[in-house]
Amino acid sequence: MMELDPTKLPRHLAIIMDGNGRWAQQRMLPRIVGHQRGAETVQMVVDQASNLGIGHLTLFAFSSENWSRPKPEVRALMTLLKKYLRNELRRMLRNNIRFNVIGARDDLPPEINGIIDDALAQTATNSGMVLTLALSYGGRQEITRAAARIARQVAEGSLLPDQVNEELLAGALDTAGLPDPDLLIRTSGEMRISNFLLWQLAYTELYFTEINWPDFTIVELHRALADFQSRERRFGKTSAQIRLTQRS
Ligand code: IPE
Ligand code: IPE
Ligand code: MG
Repeated sequence: MMELDPTKLPRHLAIIMDGNGRWAQQRMLPRIVGHQRGAETVQMVVDQASNLGIGHLTLFAFSSENWSRPKPEVRALMTLLKKYLRNELRRMLRNNIRFNVIGARDDLPPEINGIIDDALAQTATNSGMVLTLALSYGGRQEITRAAARIARQVAEGSLLPDQVNEELLAGALDTAGLPDPDLLIRTSGEMRISNFLLWQLAYTELYFTEINWPDFTIVELHRALADFQSRERRFGKTSAQIRLTQRS
């Protein structure tokens, strides 16, 4: 396996887990079998990221737009999510993982919200990796909710329009308190963001792989991390400036 520099790991890794349906269809299997296999990949990646010492892992599990899929697929995904969350709680407790959710939780079935509340409460004091699931999540919807929240504060008189700055807006998002992702991985060969973390991805390094999510392995994860470690993040500055600050 590729050698990784443990001092240069992403503080926050985000993943668009895509290609479950195609993985199944290529094997003449129902799409839901792809989602089931994808859930196994999730467990592997969560364990690996936590073992490597990555501080934050955020997984795009269900988008605002995914509600428009055929009803049986949506229902099957919710059943799978319920099963996954029940299983995962034990493992999160064992691995000192703190659970977190972003997205429009009001749209999720009450039963799932109950399990989520339980997992949030039981892992709240864990000090290891923060595992964030994006559920019923859309970046535009999140920014819109934040804008509405800020508008309400201005209308109530508790905030002045001039006090609205980047920090305040970031703090009104679902991701308040999380660092921006350093690396985004998307599987299945699609090269788009699909409404994921629009604000937070401003300076994230992007990594795309053709591999479908159920086939994603530890080796693939290491490959993505090694690629990340070879990049120079300039944040608008010149390469010379970056090399200068690295030396000091
Ligand atoms: C990703 O796999 C999982 C979800 C979006 C829920 P897809 O279901 O999008 O798989 P493809 O893209 O159709 O292959
Ligand atoms: C993005 O994948 C959402 C998740 C991985 C949960 P999609 O499969 O929904 O994205 P598009 O529709 O191909 O852009
Ligand atoms: Mg897809």
